[in-house]
Amino acid sequence: MKKIVLNILFIIVVNTLFQLTASAQTKSISQKVDSVFNLMTLDEKIGQLNQYNDDWTATDLLAIDNDKAIQIQKGQLGSLLNCMGTERTRIWQKIAMQSRLKIPLLFGQDVIHGYKTTFPIPLAEACSWDLEAIELSARIAATEASASGIHWTFAPMVDITRDPRWGRVMEGAGEDPYLASKIAYARVKGFQGDKPGELNSIMACAKHFAGYGAAIGGRDYNSVDMSERLLWEVYLPPFKAAVDAKVSTFMTSFNDINGVPSTGNKYLLRTILKEQWGFNGYVVSDWGAVGEMINHGNVKNESEAAQCAITAGCDMDMESRNYKNNLAQLVNDGKVLIALIDEAVKRILQKKFELGLFDDPFRFCSAEREKRELNNPEHTTAAREMACKSIVLLKNQNQLLPLSKNIKTIAFIGPLVKAVKQNKGFWDVEVPGLDSNYIVSQWAGIQNKVGNKTNLLYAKGCDIEGDNKNGFTEALNIARQADVVILSIGERRDMTGEAKSRSNINIPGVQEDLLKELLTTGKPVVALINAGRPLVFNYTADNAPAILYTWWLGSEAGNAIADVLFGDYNPSAKLVITFPQSVGQLPIYYSHFNTGHPAVSDDNHSYNSSYTDLSIYPKFEFGYGLSYTSFQYSNLKLSKKKMTKDEQIEVSLTITNTGKYNGEEIVQLYIRDLVGSIVRPVKDLKDFNKIPLKIGESKNIRFIIDKEKLSFYNQQLQWIAEPGEFELMIGASSRDIRLQDNFELLE
Ligand code: NOJ
Repeated sequence: MKKIVLNILFIIVVNTLFQLTASAQTKSISQKVDSVFNLMTLDEKIGQLNQYNDDWTATDLLAIDNDKAIQIQKGQLGSLLNCMGTERTRIWQKIAMQSRLKIPLLFGQDVIHGYKTTFPIPLAEACSWDLEAIELSARIAATEASASGIHWTFAPMVDITRDPRWGRVMEGAGEDPYLASKIAYARVKGFQGDKPGELNSIMACAKHFAGYGAAIGGRDYNSVDMSERLLWEVYLPPFKAAVDAKVSTFMTSFNDINGVPSTGNKYLLRTILKEQWGFNGYVVSDWGAVGEMINHGNVKNESEAAQCAITAGCDMDMESRNYKNNLAQLVNDGKVLIALIDEAVKRILQKKFELGLFDDPFRFCSAEREKRELNNPEHTTAAREMACKSIVLLKNQNQLLPLSKNIKTIAFIGPLVKAVKQNKGFWDVEVPGLDSNYIVSQWAGIQNKVGNKTNLLYAKGCDIEGDNKNGFTEALNIARQADVVILSIGERRDMTGEAKSRSNINIPGVQEDLLKELLTTGKPVVALINAGRPLVFNYTADNAPAILYTWWLGSEAGNAIADVLFGDYNPSAKLVITFPQSVGQLPIYYSHFNTGHPAVSDDNHSYNSSYTDLSIYPKFEFGYGLSYTSFQYSNLKLSKKKMTKDEQIEVSLTITNTGKYNGEEIVQLYIRDLVGSIVRPVKDLKDFNKIPLKIGESKNIRFIIDKEKLSFYNQQLQWIAEPGEFELMIGASSRDIRLQDNFELLE
């Protein structure tokens, strides 16, 4: 009898346990958040809102960074940045597990264009217009970073960039809101995968909210002064696209916008982002930006800075420590409602649950997976493909390119030929303790390609900067011996990036003088221009017979450049940012207004909206990029010429590869609203199609025009399509319009 009772008791216990576990499993994330949240003290809540930098040179954490470790043990820290690798993240996480509530830490990192495998800089990738490839690049970065203990990247930067004096143009997707929104979406998807918590995904962060790209004069951190209309029409769409892609986090920008610093900007963070867009992730400040409001001058001291930022909706303080030092007092004094802290904490806990960190805080800390993913050969292949897709062919006189693989002698000249690390660009990640320096130099790439058949000669010629021409003689000597000269010039990788605004964006030093000398030999010269931003290089553009804009291409730079030079990849990229003829033209972008005094050609600069001493045209326009083959556009048809707001027009056309190589063309659809209640740009990109075509092949392409493509923000900031006439332009670039027609939107 006793045995039976015991058995029954045992079954009841097991059953209850099972039910408890099952109910824990089926609890919604918000219930799980509450179950932890309800146990938290104010001190622990405020702790979650802090993010500190990890001093990754410190090895014995408790000895060297005792203060941070103690705070973590007390539950006073939510996140660390710049803490990488399974070993190190595991150590910190173990310390977090010693805290009362065992709330796991989040590890954030600037994974901007790759982790161990460095991909091309984001601006270069954007020139591929290849959304799948861009998503894959982010996916691979996420796979590597997540395998190395990282939970969260501070990317993508989705700021619209129209002024190449601003060094951060390299991090974005260029000047156009339509294309940049598509790319923002693809990048968020790539980083985050299909759903939160997948082991090979990391949280993305749309930054910098908002308007940072419009810093006055292109000077980093500078103020932004912009109309509501411009904000909504041009600068906000990529952020909205990130929300649509379910981005987990946002970062505020350093700038003030119309006088209000973004980090304390309630209109941006609460009204637009959290209320109107329904963003359910959390917002982190940029580094120190909470405290920097004292410099801006909208708050008096750190306490006011903390109050302003938390009230505005900034949930996490990156490194200013103003939240840590002031929020408790502010709550006790009744200056900050506890509800604001609670909301911020819940948003952060929610993401920690979604990532599965409460179930297993060490799930991203597998050394075995780290080793495997950081040495995954598929990542290298993808990096090479992405690099090929990012190279823009700017000029190719007399079809100098592609080069034959049977050339006897090539002179490879320039300060960047044998550079290694330069190819990584500004935001590479130095993964501590790992061989993160794997990089194929341009020299190695071309050597790999031509093998022993070709005599490859080298001379540096000159430095990137400075006026020393001593190396010219050697360069000229080898050029004279060669059949072709390849000249690799440009800027240093750290000349373009954060805090790298420049008033002079010419190719630095005597590099263009070197080109001038080389051209006197009469040898054909191919110029490779390496840079993070559009540079001004009029001499090169006007005189070098062939030019490839190679940006910074990452780990596989050399191989990709060789693939393109020798025709194993036919260039297909097109510029996503306008290249000016001079700094005096800045800012310059294709979708400008017509003005009351339109400037329509360089024949007439009289009383029109132009500079009397400058061309009205950029050096290379948005959407421009050549191929080794040629494409013919024909047969434009519109399914109808008039549509109502509920209808659509189907646009079709034929593209034919009329040249001698298989290739890909990026067909661009622009629309101009001819008359609007608000002035409309001379053209706006509204669609595109990147299409592969074999030699001689023709394909039909279809685009759909609907109300959405005709809409804009009117004076009341309503998103509407106004009836009237529209011009449709199909182009190979924003200037090279091949086909045109008009249609009408009816009442
Ligand atoms: C400052 C930069 O503006 C931001 O983009 C970056 O994510 C943070 N530093 C963290 O490194």
